[in-house]
Amino acid sequence: MAGKIPAHFIDELLNRVDIVDLINSRVPLKKAGKDYQACCPFHNEKTPSFTVSREKQFYHCFGCGAHGTAIGFLMEYDNLGFVDSIEELAGKAGLEVPREGRDDSGPDYRPLYDTLDQAARFYQWQLRKHPDAGKAVGYLKQRGLTGQISADFAIGYAPPGWDNLIRQMGRSDQELELLRGTGMISEPEVDKCYDRFRDRIMFPIRNHRGQTIAFGGRILGDGKPKYLNSPETPVFHKGRELYGLYEARKALRKIERLLVVEGYMDVVALAQFGIRYAVATLGTATTTEHLERLFRSCAEIVFCFDGDRAGRDAGWKALETSLPQMRDGREARFLFLPDGEDPDTLIRKEGRERFEQRIIDSTPLSSFLFDKLESEVDMASLGGRARLAEQAKPLLGKLPSGLFREMMHQRLAQRVGLEPGQLGNRAAVESPRPRPPVRNSSGARQMLSPARRAITLLLLRPELARITDLPYEWRAFRAPGISLLSQLLEIAQNQPNLRTAQIIERWRDKPEYPHLEKIWSTATELPTPEDGMEMEFRGALQRLVEQQREQETTQLLERVSTGDASEQEKQRLGQLLSEKQKIADLHKRSD
Ligand code: CTP
Ligand code: MN
Repeated sequence: MAGKIPAHFIDELLNRVDIVDLINSRVPLKKAGKDYQACCPFHNEKTPSFTVSREKQFYHCFGCGAHGTAIGFLMEYDNLGFVDSIEELAGKAGLEVPREGRDDSGPDYRPLYDTLDQAARFYQWQLRKHPDAGKAVGYLKQRGLTGQISADFAIGYAPPGWDNLIRQMGRSDQELELLRGTGMISEPEVDKCYDRFRDRIMFPIRNHRGQTIAFGGRILGDGKPKYLNSPETPVFHKGRELYGLYEARKALRKIERLLVVEGYMDVVALAQFGIRYAVATLGTATTTEHLERLFRSCAEIVFCFDGDRAGRDAGWKALETSLPQMRDGREARFLFLPDGEDPDTLIRKEGRERFEQRIIDSTPLSSFLFDKLESEVDMASLGGRARLAEQAKPLLGKLPSGLFREMMHQRLAQRVGLEPGQLGNRAAVESPRPRPPVRNSSGARQMLSPARRAITLLLLRPELARITDLPYEWRAFRAPGISLLSQLLEIAQNQPNLRTAQIIERWRDKPEYPHLEKIWSTATELPTPEDGMEMEFRGALQRLVEQQREQETTQLLERVSTGDASEQEKQRLGQLLSEKQKIADLHKRSD
């Protein structure tokens, strides 16, 4: 494994890249005041609410709430992982990405990718030039594919014979080793090896960069096995990859929705009919990794299955895997096809328009869930409805907290005939509604907790951390945001040159990261003049100290009342109470 990318390098990278230039190269921006604007690339809109701030080195969309640093933008927009985004940015900035730890490089898979790309080109070439190519082209034509679509998907032909690929690409031991590493050859015995794919239509499976990582091969006509796939290799993990995702991204400027189907031919046939947003899992059920990848590309996923028993079961499995992913704003639906049809056969029969109408009419996750559970109980009886609640609760419990989860609980309560609070799932029902981002342009003071106020001020002005004699007694306070605040203070004190985007980037792997990002991206300047910031910051910390004292007082009173308090604790309580009295007196006098 390659080592971790050191934090100082990420700081340096964010120093060198300007988020405005970066985004502008992908989404043309217009200047608006001191920020830049465009129509949001992450949701559909007619008036621009996507804002990029050079000062903050952050983007934020007031329409859909998308936000992040330059790294985050690449992850979302180019659908890259964290490390790939860093590499991309580093490439632009002309920097080499260093790795922590002694093992500096990790295994180098480039030769494997090169080998697979060469193999893909070889198969494509064979589809045009091999003496038997006519047979393969005939098969593709008979399945309704044009040369254009075959080329878009880089479809090729592995000719008949035991060693076409080996003769072409495995002439030295070293080359043979690479073919072995990519899973392109079969070796039933030592010293006996031949091409894995023979006399098959070849579908290259490509990763997000368009590199070939594996193949699926279909027999021409009947025979077994109908499909043969590359084995797992260091560059190919079946449960992670989606056939057609790269091609969809290439064909569409923006992916609005993705349709998840079962087969290679389904993806390609749908593309042939102009539906360029279909992807296929590779003969496996939909995994969490698949879903993460899908939802990183767009907010709407439609799962397509056969209408038979097996298809419905597979659909239910996909639903269960999807539940934890259903954050607000995301949508999952289910399309069950008529018996005996798959997307390939159906779109040929009825054409694009009617097929797309099916997609539009497909069943929302919520209906699929309730319809299925309700079909299994007797909704007319009290016992049946109780069973429904029992079956549904653990499923709804998998949903992330938010509006959607709350609505599902309400719907369950309605169906069962109870108030949501009576379902015995108080925490879930009462989980707070996520508030829409509050903008503070009117100058009205928001009711933020003092911890949140202090964090916001610190993000806006990290140099506040360097003020001497700040109040610190709040550190023992047990309340949300306290440990985050004290870590932020520490970083800002120890590394005075860090800008906010760099500070926030250090939290990427931590649970507080989304909160930090959110606070930062929605924090417009507080309506405080520059010289008032310090006072306000001190004020927030002072308020925390007071709250901490109140908390401590309550706890000590409790211990005294149960007789558990030590002598020391009683003394401390006396001290706290007398201070409180003094403050109350002060207030009285000033009234
Ligand atoms: N599959 C596989 N290995 C097999 C059979 C199927 O990996 N032996 C995977 C392939 O990804 C294939 C998908 O499952 O595309 C669907 O298989 P199947 O339902 O058999 O596909 P069909 O629609 O029957 O294939 P075709 O339309 O090409 O006849
Ligand atoms: Mn088929």
